[in-house]
Amino acid sequence: MAGTTLLDIKGVQTYYGNIRALNGVDVTVKQGEIVALIGANGAGKSTLMMTIFGAPRARAGTITFAGTDITQMPTHEIARMRIAQSPEGRRIFPRMTVMENLQMGASLDNLQHYDEDVEKVFTLFPRLKERIAQRGGTLSGGEQQMLSIGRALMARPKLLLLDEPSLGLAPLIVKQIFDAIRELNRTQGLTVFLVEQNAFGALRLANRGYVMVNGNVTMSGTGKELLADPEVRAAYLEGGHH
Ligand SMILES: Nc1ncnc2c1ncn2[C@@H]1O[C@H](COP(=O)(O)OP(=O)(O)O)[C@@H](O)[C@H]1O
Ligand SMILES: [Mg+2]
Repeated sequence: MAGTTLLDIKGVQTYYGNIRALNGVDVTVKQGEIVALIGANGAGKSTLMMTIFGAPRARAGTITFAGTDITQMPTHEIARMRIAQSPEGRRIFPRMTVMENLQMGASLDNLQHYDEDVEKVFTLFPRLKERIAQRGGTLSGGEQQMLSIGRALMARPKLLLLDEPSLGLAPLIVKQIFDAIRELNRTQGLTVFLVEQNAFGALRLANRGYVMVNGNVTMSGTGKELLADPEVRAAYLEGGHH
């Protein structure tokens, strides 16, 4: 299946009222890839992530997942196509325990391997196991991010969407999160589409990347190519915190 296009975004335009936030975006993610979308605050990265789930809905263009046109599909049906996300700001359930948060991520189809899936999450993030009965809201930012990713994994996704997993976290924790994503991709072949302002970390992790400016994709290439590109370096890497 390597090389097959899993997610195909073509000419997508998304509006907030009369304001166009995405101006015809083309992005593809192939089976088994890690793809990063980088860009400044307000570029439209989160809007693209949310448009994949149909909220907000694309007003033009098409989004195809595993060969199925999902552009107009209801959001809960899109989730059942086995696309899972860790949204910006993590959005775990603060009053629920770690275990209960993970339960919320499991779909009814997967209950027969629930214990196995929880164990996989704990192997990936041992800190969550140590905090199994702790309420989500009392976890550190890094632990909440781990929980948010763990919850998404409970759905056994074919595609994992991550919106700014490194935001606000200390460098050591960011490394742990990125290492875990790399590990998931390497050992389970999980396909990942990641949005980041941390361009350096994201492009090092990713096979390929896209640069978004004001609702347009302005550049694309392998992670290595973009890291070496003078324009990318000047805009996103020089003087930035790596
Ligand atoms: N709910 C919303 N209502 C109106 N405008 C929004 C909303 N969410 C985002 N925007 C606008 O859309 C643009 C893209 O935002 P966003 O996708 O959040 O960017 P990024 O994730 O790259 O920081 C920005 O101009 C932002 O102000
Ligand atoms: Mg955002």
